Amino acid sequence: MLSGGDELWFRDASFYEVPVRSFFDSNDDGIGDFNGLTMKLDYIKSIGMDCIWLLPFYKSPLKDDGYDISDYYSILPDYGTVEDFERFVSEAHARGIRVIADLVLNHVSDQNEWFKEARSSRDNPKRDWFVWSDDPDKYKDVRIIFIDSETSNWAWDPVSKQYYWHRFYSHQPDLNYDNPEVREEMMNVIRYWLDKGLDGFRCDAVPYLFEREGTSCENLPETHQYFKEIRKMIDREYPGCILLAEANQWPADAKAYFGNQDEFHMNFNFPLMPRVFIALAEEDAFPIVNIIKQTLPIPEKCDWGLFLRNHDELTLEMVTDEERDLMFREYAKLPKMRLNLGIRRRLAPLVDNDRYVLELLHALIMSLPGSPIFYYGDEINMGDNVYLGDRNGVRTPMQWSYDRNAGFSRADSEALFSPVITNPNYHYESFNVDSMSRLPTSFLNWFRRMIVVRKQNSQVLGRGSIRFLKSEDKQILAYIREYQEQRMLCVFNLGRKPGFTRLDLSEFNGWHLRETISSVRFPDIGELPYFFTMPRHSYFWMIMEAPNGT
Ligand code: NOJ
Ligand code: CA
Repeated sequence: MLSGGDELWFRDASFYEVPVRSFFDSNDDGIGDFNGLTMKLDYIKSIGMDCIWLLPFYKSPLKDDGYDISDYYSILPDYGTVEDFERFVSEAHARGIRVIADLVLNHVSDQNEWFKEARSSRDNPKRDWFVWSDDPDKYKDVRIIFIDSETSNWAWDPVSKQYYWHRFYSHQPDLNYDNPEVREEMMNVIRYWLDKGLDGFRCDAVPYLFEREGTSCENLPETHQYFKEIRKMIDREYPGCILLAEANQWPADAKAYFGNQDEFHMNFNFPLMPRVFIALAEEDAFPIVNIIKQTLPIPEKCDWGLFLRNHDELTLEMVTDEERDLMFREYAKLPKMRLNLGIRRRLAPLVDNDRYVLELLHALIMSLPGSPIFYYGDEINMGDNVYLGDRNGVRTPMQWSYDRNAGFSRADSEALFSPVITNPNYHYESFNVDSMSRLPTSFLNWFRRMIVVRKQNSQVLGRGSIRFLKSEDKQILAYIREYQEQRMLCVFNLGRKPGFTRLDLSEFNGWHLRETISSVRFPDIGELPYFFTMPRHSYFWMIMEAPNGT
């Protein structure tokens, strides 16, 4: 754990999501590794990231890119050794960067020794570590998540002649959390990796730990109770470490994972994410205002993780059928772009690489209540490859330069774990860290500046309350963030056309407005409505200064 600092560090932090496999290959075998990641820490520092979230790096047959763990206590040899991992964490800490990692509690790989033992015979001591049944109609109210590849949550085990329960792929048997040994073993896994220096976990597939007949088997009280026990242990033994939940749920169920400040520190704001894209497509601020109101308030010592994209498909499980249709129509015109109930594309291609829209979306998630979580490569507007299977099209090698293999690896191109992006509209020869760093006007340099501004205002943006202002034009979204004496006014035009609005700021009569990036001072606020004219897809972040200079 990075020592010192505020226990609420995560409220002011920017997070960077990284698959070790895709980031940098240090030993020329075509696969990213921990030593490569260590070599690129200065880059991660240069874009102002405070915390790295590592995707699963444990031993795995990689049938679900590492979310199928075959040994919780070892590292996938392709990625390096435990020593490489420890060196990476301590080098990150030396730069003031924290590291959290994926923790997959719900299920294991069918190659895991625990499962191999469990299926070997019905009286094996590990048998009860998994969920078995003779009846595949048990828990029949439970939805299937990977609908494109699974037809049931039960899979037949020909060895022991019973069905086992799995919420994801059939090669990922769910652990049985009713068994105290399982609960204890996972506590040991947590301690093992925290002892190696991690600053916390992104907890995978949180809602599904327990099963109860007659329910959806999601968000059960027993599941919350177990996470509260984990939290208690962390607070006692590893204070300052955090738990971030992946709980893709409707607002009320998602909020419940904060508990009474005694469960998760953070939770992804899944409800917000698709609604940002819906608001953009409909040129209407309402979906954002509405969902933010539904997802607040949350306890003081907790925070949302705000994201636009991640390593999975853009999930549309928790939206209405009409909203999903709209999203598919607008953002996934080809069938290949869809997967399960979602869209398997990266951010830049989703919005046709429109620089205005990309800035707008980033300015939104950097200024709404919560901590932004960025997906590697989105800061260089990386493209995707929908011709690769599953979600691999958004997990291609990071693009460092216009050299061979985008500077990711010196292996022969055929040896790369995945091809690099060569589509002419997103070719790595232009979309790479080196070229974009040298171009002052690049998106990457814009991103860096915005993160600096965000850091300068980290308290009001990280911890402030939000108040939405009435706008006469539905495509204009306006809010004030407030923290103690600090205030920031944020205004966005979500429309494809220019727009204008008059905001009632009369309670701030006499205050000054200063644009954050340029420091340009705007006309002072008066009694009359304050007038904003805005080009299409534009934004303002304005510092509000009281007349007496506070
Ligand atoms: C959620 C992860 O984000 C996803 O990549 C994975 O396939 C499932 N959990 C199953 O572990
Ligand atoms: Ca390698």
